[in-house]
Amino acid sequence: MKIKIVTLFKEMFIPFLETSIIKRAINNKLVEVELVDLRTYSNDKHNHVDDTPYGGGSGMVIRVDVVKRALDDIKSSASKVILTTPRGITYNQQIANKLSKEEEIIILCGHYEGFDERVLDYVDYEISIGDYVLTGGEIAAMTICDSIIRLLKDVIKEESYKDDSFQTGLLEYPQYTRPYIYDDKKVPDVLVNGNHEEIRKYRLYESLKLTYLRRKDLLDKYSLNKEEEELLKKIERETLQKK
Ligand code: ADE
Repeated sequence: MKIKIVTLFKEMFIPFLETSIIKRAINNKLVEVELVDLRTYSNDKHNHVDDTPYGGGSGMVIRVDVVKRALDDIKSSASKVILTTPRGITYNQQIANKLSKEEEIIILCGHYEGFDERVLDYVDYEISIGDYVLTGGEIAAMTICDSIIRLLKDVIKEESYKDDSFQTGLLEYPQYTRPYIYDDKKVPDVLVNGNHEEIRKYRLYESLKLTYLRRKDLLDKYSLNKEEEELLKKIERETLQKK
C-alpha cells in the first residue's frame, strides 16, 4: 500500500514514521509513506496556500486551486482521497479495515479554518477522528495511518489484532502478566491452569461483560451466536442481582 500525506507540517510526521512498528513496516516495504508539502503547489511568490474567507470572519481558508494542483500531480487512478475534518464521518475500526484494502490513499490534512468547500468535489471520504476539534488534521492523519498500517499483511501477526477491541465487534478481554500476585491481587485462576477451552470461555465472557457494561451500542450491532447469547443472559442476571 502507498499512503501520501498532504500537509503544511511535514516535520510532525517524522517521529511517527521513524518509531517502532510503523518504522519497521516502512523498512520492510510493507507500506510506502510519502509526505507532500502543500506549499510547493502555491503559485504566488510568497508561497501562500490560503486566503481570507469570502463573507468575512476570522481565520484563513485553504485554496481549492492549490489543493487541486497537488492532487493532479500526485493522484493515480487507484487513489482514494481522504480529507481530515471534524465535519466528517466518525472514524472506526470498520473504516480502518476497509481503507487497509486500498492500493493507495491520499490524506489531506486541514488547518486554520479549513478548506474551501469546493475541495470536496475531489475527495472520496471526509473523516473525523472524534467529536473534538484539533488545531489541524495531522494528528488525525497519523491516527488513520497507524490504524491502517497495523492491519497490513505481515506488519503484525494476525493473532495480535484478531481479538482487539472493535476488531471482533466486542471490547477486548482483560490481560495479565507477571507478577502472579501484586498488592494482594492475584491473576485469575483460569488463566494459569492451562485449560485452553476454559480460557477461551472466560475471555469471551469477560469481553461480553465489558461490552455490556460500557458499550451497549456495540452489542446492539453485534450478532450473538448461541454460546454468546447464553453468556449474555448470565451477565444480565448477575448485573441485575448486584443492583
Ligand atoms: N481536524 C480538526 N479536528 C479534527 C478531527 N476531530 N478529526 C479530523 N480532523 C480534524
